[in-house]
Amino acid sequence: MLNRIRCKSLMFTLTTLAFLLVLVGSTTVSVRSQDAAAEKVYKARCASCHGDDLKADTKAGKMTKTADLTVESNWKGERTPEAVEKVIREGIGKMPAFESKLSDEEIQAVAAYTLKLAGINK
Ligand code: HEC
Repeated sequence: MLNRIRCKSLMFTLTTLAFLLVLVGSTTVSVRSQDAAAEKVYKARCASCHGDDLKADTKAGKMTKTADLTVESNWKGERTPEAVEKVIREGIGKMPAFESKLSDEEIQAVAAYTLKLAGINK
């Protein structure tokens, strides 16, 4: 009788553990694929001016006088997700607005990715 109860609670623990493992695994995968999607958007829409590394060491970057955004003092606005999303939506200086070209999710993801490149990993 006692054995049976022990066996049941062991089964319960194992099931819970397996469930948690699956949950953690799928969260990691979805964060990773979100990152990959943001990188894709960045490379397609932003890297021509800002460069793969946000240093703007590209032809278009020089032509448009895009600042090296890995240097904090080059930023005109705040280095927060909200401020970066606004810049992406509305554009700034020679940078075009992306409001009609990207979805809200893409704008959020690429803003987070840009801040990551700037060394702000929040
Ligand atoms: C045609 C070139 C060009 C493209 C494409 C471009 N940018 Fe920019 N970006 C600029 C320039 C130029 C500035 C600086 C504007 C200024 O200071 O007058 C800038 C500034 C910024 C800033 C800094 C704002 C601040 O506070 O100083 C961020 C962040 C930024 N861009 C993100 C992006 C992202 C993300 C994309 C892609 C969705 C992108 N840019 C695409 C040219 C570009």
